[in-house]
Amino acid sequence: RVDHAIRPKRLADYIGQPRVREQLDIFISAARGRGDSLDHTLVFGPPGLGKTTLANIIAEEMGVDIKSTSGPVLERAGDLAAMLTNLQPGDVLFIDEIHRLPAAVEEVLYPAMEDFQLDIMIGEGPAARSIKLDLPRFTLVGATTRAGLLTSPLRDRFGIVQRLEFYAIDELTEIVTRSARLLGIEAEAGGAAEIARRARGTPRIANRLLRRVRDYAEVRGDGRLSVEIADLALNMLNVDRHGLDHMDRRLLLAMIEKFDGGPVGVDSLSAAISEERDTIEDVLEPYLIQQGLMLRTARGRMVTRQAYLHFGLAAGDSVPNAS
Ligand code: ADE
Repeated sequence: RVDHAIRPKRLADYIGQPRVREQLDIFISAARGRGDSLDHTLVFGPPGLGKTTLANIIAEEMGVDIKSTSGPVLERAGDLAAMLTNLQPGDVLFIDEIHRLPAAVEEVLYPAMEDFQLDIMIGEGPAARSIKLDLPRFTLVGATTRAGLLTSPLRDRFGIVQRLEFYAIDELTEIVTRSARLLGIEAEAGGAAEIARRARGTPRIANRLLRRVRDYAEVRGDGRLSVEIADLALNMLNVDRHGLDHMDRRLLLAMIEKFDGGPVGVDSLSAAISEERDTIEDVLEPYLIQQGLMLRTARGRMVTRQAYLHFGLAAGDSVPNAS
């Protein structure tokens, strides 16, 4: 991954998420002080906010190795058993998209998390045998977009649960400034802030836009990342003044034009814009809701007056304000 150079490796270099940082700092220091492994930790929140980065920081701060995998990759109980039996005492096992673990694999995880016991069936039919073995103490770090996607027995086995929030513009400005420095990009304060304002509250997007604005600056400008260059490059990339991208606008405009602003069910929206329901729920709507452009109600999704305003459209009297 190209992000390798700019990903923070220590908690002290991690910008934003102050509550998460403070809590992890305490729990990590306490575990280290006792010579314990860290309790199993669940990190959830929209994509690109730093869940994987935090898992790597936890391992670094604990002074242990990290082994990474993801829910959909662990197809069979044996796939998880192979990961678990490959751990050294204290290691972090990182499972991204942990809500996508098959049920049969999840069941192997319960005794592993709780008692550090591997308990699996091998073989089938009359020759099938159950084998049990002791595992080293380890820390499971699980990441998911929404905590509600996990079954409750799995969620209940995490001693530490952290929710990541969208980043404030000043935090993203600091992240862009830091990334620019590490990448050797000459960024003016205003240029970094312009990227931050239009990055959907998301460091991964901010860092991607930074690279594209740099390209633009090198070819169309003098290489310096100024406000003007950032604005031109971001307009070219179809990122609007509020940081909404093409898909965000498509979703809001479909709600306005095809469903009269809602309420509309997510499956109808999915069909209307040919986008997967999961993408709408995990990627698109969390930011639009946080920005007050749409609402989730018991009857379905609705756009707000602010969304009509965003597109310069007149909203009828029944259109709700952001809550
Ligand atoms: N790069 C991506 N996310 C970051 C964060 N939260 N802090 C510092 N650099 C980052």
